Amino acid sequence: MDWDDRYSIDDYLFGQKPAQALLQNEKHLVPCGETLLIADGEGRNSVYLAKKGFKVTSSDSSIVAQEKAKALADSHCVKVHFKLENFFDIDWSRKQYDNIVGICFQFIPPELMGEVFKGLRLATKKGGTILIHGYTPKQIQYGTGGPKDVSLMYTKKTFTRSFNPSEIHLLEEYEATISEGPGHSGKSSMIDFVAKP
Ligand SMILES: C[S@@+](CC[C@H](N)C(=O)[O-])C[C@H]1O[C@@H](n2cnc3c(N)ncnc32)[C@H](O)[C@@H]1O
Repeated sequence: MDWDDRYSIDDYLFGQKPAQALLQNEKHLVPCGETLLIADGEGRNSVYLAKKGFKVTSSDSSIVAQEKAKALADSHCVKVHFKLENFFDIDWSRKQYDNIVGICFQFIPPELMGEVFKGLRLATKKGGTILIHGYTPKQIQYGTGGPKDVSLMYTKKTFTRSFNPSEIHLLEEYEATISEGPGHSGKSSMIDFVAKP
């Protein structure tokens, strides 16, 4: 998928307001903590957290999205540290965060998921939080957002395979109607995952 192309519209593809899943789950985050948002796109979620006092780093590989994210941060007068990088090039041993947040973070082939979770765990401080939100395989039939490739969808097993039960604070599949820009709109089948590794 060419994300720069997708983001090359005047509108914000996923809106300017935070994801409903972030609003539902922000209570699990370390308050005001150092927070990395992976695949943060146009910055709707990082800007929201920055406004609430989190020290935020926004990571994404799309330069078009990141320019829009910078404009959004400026318009809200908040400071966000931006990293234009390919997710697969991140050295997870370099820095630890209080929170790692991946909203609609859904481009990892299943065979790499275990390694990715190891990386996220390594980059999370003790007592910190990993929050991931994505779509389940049922989303394919709704077609209201997310990848078209069923192998990229998340099930509960995606997470229970790699995290111990004691680390998992929330693992919930649900359906809801969302309205998050032209990119995410309509009845959707989603999953939220929160771990404290
Ligand atoms: C569905 S969008 C979600 C954007 C944002 N989290 C949100 O909720 O508005 C997925 C994001 O993943 C990013 N992405 C895809 N592959 C990536 C990669 N290999 N490295 C970094 N970012 C990537 C895309 O640029 C896109 O911004």
